Amino acid sequence: MAHYRRLGEVPPKRHTQFRDGDGKLYYEELMGEEGFSSDSSLLYHRGVPSAIVASEVWELPDQTRTPNHPLRPRHLRLHDLETGSDAVTGRRLVLGNNDVRIGYVVTGTDPSPYYRNAIGDECMFVETGTGVVETVFGVVGYRAGDYVVIPRATTHRWLPAEPSRLYAIEANSHVAPPKRYLSRFGQLLEHAPYCERDLYGPEQPFTQEGADVEVLVKHRTSAGVVGTRMTYATHPFDVVGWDGCLYPYTFNLEDYMPITGKIHQPPPVHQVFEGHNFVVCNFLPRKVDYHPLSVPVPYYHSNVDSDEVMFYVGGDYEARKGSGIGLGSISLHPGGYAHGPQPSAIEASLGAEYFDESAVMVDTFAPLDLGEGGLAVEDPAYAWTWAGRGPDDPAVFSNS
Ligand SMILES: [Fe+2]
Repeated sequence: MAHYRRLGEVPPKRHTQFRDGDGKLYYEELMGEEGFSSDSSLLYHRGVPSAIVASEVWELPDQTRTPNHPLRPRHLRLHDLETGSDAVTGRRLVLGNNDVRIGYVVTGTDPSPYYRNAIGDECMFVETGTGVVETVFGVVGYRAGDYVVIPRATTHRWLPAEPSRLYAIEANSHVAPPKRYLSRFGQLLEHAPYCERDLYGPEQPFTQEGADVEVLVKHRTSAGVVGTRMTYATHPFDVVGWDGCLYPYTFNLEDYMPITGKIHQPPPVHQVFEGHNFVVCNFLPRKVDYHPLSVPVPYYHSNVDSDEVMFYVGGDYEARKGSGIGLGSISLHPGGYAHGPQPSAIEASLGAEYFDESAVMVDTFAPLDLGEGGLAVEDPAYAWTWAGRGPDDPAVFSNS
């Protein structure tokens, strides 16, 4: 996130004395990525940002992962998943590997606990719902179609104004626009499908009074993903000003300008973000291919280096017709296996000029395991939908 932002009061020179009206020094904190070698922000606190009075184990929801073995394409119906009701502790793990975890939660309207993810950035896709996210940098609003990108270790909490369906993409790294969209100094280029105007960060500082405030911290040990509950002497939302290039922001699907072509365009044209060993793409309503003999749905493809996860969030996904997939479904098409349209969808797409479909895709470069939440809502018939019959159905013809 290389787009400089400055909110509230900051001293004219960094790392110099900065006092409130009573002459008391503010406490300066540098929050920076990759040691001191990448994007950062300087925050000015009223209280000491490291002053904790307690630290206890926070038992995370079940993080069990089950390998995709035997190898199969999978269909997971997230709208059938029972979840907890707050945006942080209510998530159930759907898919995951050592680079990224995908969770899902349907919130109520109670605020989440204060929370931060010390493992990596969170990219929360808002399937439905509205509300705000309070953060140490200020408040960002959210609505359906938003990605809410929250940098690693940003203390925050979710306050849904209405029940919200949240698709949690939790990186073990940072989430950022693809490098090829950026100038060498970090500006979004002309060929990128969105630009800085489309990114919405906090507008003003947000401070709260309080003592002995609990914050849930998700982090890693040699035992894997774990949680700790830290209690802060004073409220962590005490920043009177900050500036820099590291902060939470939102980006909405409506502001993504799809790139289309005369013949079928491959998924990288739909990319929106990247993390370490994974990418995020979105397939959105758009005009489709205009060659007179074009086939608008995808060709079969074998992504030999990646697992592909589609989350179907709007419209009517043309290539999946006849598969049982509907809104709220996930498809997992793993590496080592060719996938593509259900056969009837190919003829049906010919002559189409427009696709009304919305889907968020996560492609990972390491195999994904199934989380306990994913396994709970699997459609076991999906793997056989291209053939039209499965292991229990006898062949009625042979192509030999
Ligand atoms: Fe695909």
